[in-house]
Amino acid sequence: MTSPVPASVGHALRELDTPCLTLDLDAFERNVDRLFESLRDFPGAVRPHAKSHKCPELARRLVAKGAVGICCQKVSEAEVFADHGIEDILVANEFVGEAKLRRYLGLARRVPRLACCVDDPRQAAALSAAAVQAGLVLQVLVEVDVGQGRCGVADAEAAVAMAMTVTGLPGLSFSGLQGYHGAAQHFRSADERAAAISAASAKMAQIRDALAQQGVVCKTITGAGTGSYLLEAASGVYNELQPGSFVFMDVDYRRNHLEGSPMPAFEQSLFVAATVMSQPTAQRAVVDAGLKAFSVDSGLPELVGVTGARYVKASDEHGVLEVDAGAVVALGDVVRIAPGHCDPTVNLYDHLVVLQEGLVKDIWPIAARGCLA
Ligand SMILES: Cc1ncc(COP(=O)(O)O)c(C=O)c1O
Repeated sequence: MTSPVPASVGHALRELDTPCLTLDLDAFERNVDRLFESLRDFPGAVRPHAKSHKCPELARRLVAKGAVGICCQKVSEAEVFADHGIEDILVANEFVGEAKLRRYLGLARRVPRLACCVDDPRQAAALSAAAVQAGLVLQVLVEVDVGQGRCGVADAEAAVAMAMTVTGLPGLSFSGLQGYHGAAQHFRSADERAAAISAASAKMAQIRDALAQQGVVCKTITGAGTGSYLLEAASGVYNELQPGSFVFMDVDYRRNHLEGSPMPAFEQSLFVAATVMSQPTAQRAVVDAGLKAFSVDSGLPELVGVTGARYVKASDEHGVLEVDAGAVVALGDVVRIAPGHCDPTVNLYDHLVVLQEGLVKDIWPIAARGCLA
């Protein structure tokens, strides 16, 4: 069951049923243009990660601007985007178990271009057996841990062995490597990020070259996020990029050191609209958006556009604003608040209220919200 639609086309900000998630359409479009402009000399593909937005309309707009397709993190997310006509999907992640395999084979039957990642021979063997039984050939990338310390084969030698295993299995077609350095996205200094991606690229190149010596071609070498994608693009190794957060940005990403940074000046386009629902003292106002309205794993959200007031505390349904003398905050005001971390905040909402020049222009369903399987 989805929540009620919080606005109608033509509504102004103060008429929204808050808390609700809003998109500044012009800022979003400028972010997309900046991304593609920054990659005009990149000969490879751009495959923005849909885990950030979970919104088919937004994915369609990125494809219309030149994206080859999307990444998803979950099989169930991929199902939603496939239902909405996205024809080129990389599940940039591993999955195991009968239920997921069954669902993935269902996707493979209807998505024209579909691929997924493996990092374990047992997982590859199960995928292979399922593919053979279904009479399908599945495109598979080997994920390599390039410093994130999450999934991915740990070292180059093991990655080569894993790729050779995939190559030898029926029902699987080895299409390349994935190496995403998530931690590097949030390194504050440009030098630190450059060093991390340089090491990642060198590792990927080493694996690519070792495979080439055995006659195995890595068609795709994919990875990268908003904080580092220009480095992967310039590496001469990666030929596909997966940035996601650039469409929205968030408080944490804005803290990335921009000067000399390998990241264009993307703008905040995603805001939670909240109402001042209590004003107990001159120094304290309370909005109707707290922990259930924002993910705070990367820090508190930030009040935008109100001078002299700050979001200082979140409890389940409340957000406390600290208000300086002279700041204009009144009971009933609808304010805009930038999330600390965009992806998990988006996953709390069913609708994206699209604003242009202060008015609701459209409502886009966040159709893959809650798709965790
Ligand atoms: C595999 C993978 N690729 C790409 C991204 C997108 O990165 P970002 O949101 O930093 O742009 C993520 C985000 O976590 C990811 O896990």
